[in-house]
Amino acid sequence: MLFTIYRFNPETDAMPYMQEYELLDIEPGTMLRDALLRIKNEQDETLSFRHSCGEGVCGSDGMNINGTNALACVSAVEGLKEPVIIRPLPGMPVIRDLIIDMTQFYTQYRAVKPWLIVKDPIPDVEFKQTPEQRDKLDGLYECILCGCCSTACPSFWWNPDKFRGPAALLQSWRFLSDSRDQATAERLQDLEGPYKLFRCHSIMNCVDVCPKHLNPTKAIGNIKKLMLKNML
Ligand code: SF4
Ligand code: SF4
Ligand code: FES
Repeated sequence: MLFTIYRFNPETDAMPYMQEYELLDIEPGTMLRDALLRIKNEQDETLSFRHSCGEGVCGSDGMNINGTNALACVSAVEGLKEPVIIRPLPGMPVIRDLIIDMTQFYTQYRAVKPWLIVKDPIPDVEFKQTPEQRDKLDGLYECILCGCCSTACPSFWWNPDKFRGPAALLQSWRFLSDSRDQATAERLQDLEGPYKLFRCHSIMNCVDVCPKHLNPTKAIGNIKKLMLKNML
């Protein structure tokens, strides 16, 4: 099977380039991360990419595979069009090969204050929630911060310093939806203005690529609706 992989080492390369590799005898069920590890171990130890858990949990091996952002460890090589073209997640600075600088992504994540803000005295034992209140967090808390969505979003490409991006906004809605959180007004106020929230144009690239099947576009729509409701 043929692979064409983006290469760039800022210490030795003036420009990025694409490098071809061929892997023979790929076993059925092989995931792309395993194929990349074989290339690294058998052919070219300089090939660099992030990975850890190998089962879609840590979120570290997001990359662009034949034009679509995905996690390499849960992407079967079988059925991928050849040559398999692998690039770093788009729109972010490249540190080396498939490794991108996620600083802007995390800055936007931190900016939505992704933690519970409680003003009442903290209960001695635990915060109580009804099953219905807890159910509202389903489809929101499962995000693994892989960055596949925000780096597929044209609004984030053009304004990564101003638009929060789908991953951060999904987390904003996760805390706005939480019955225990008491900072709704402040959270909504923080998102006012033309960029942080309203730069989303509902193109839904983010939904198409999320490996956890989450829906940032719906979360963004819900924040907009809540903002409107609170203004009336
Ligand atoms: S729906 Fe919004 S957040 Fe998602 S990709 Fe489109 S512009 Fe970006
Ligand atoms: S919403 Fe999905 S694609 Fe975006 S960071 Fe979370 S898990 Fe990754
Ligand atoms: S290696 Fe952890 S998500 Fe792929």
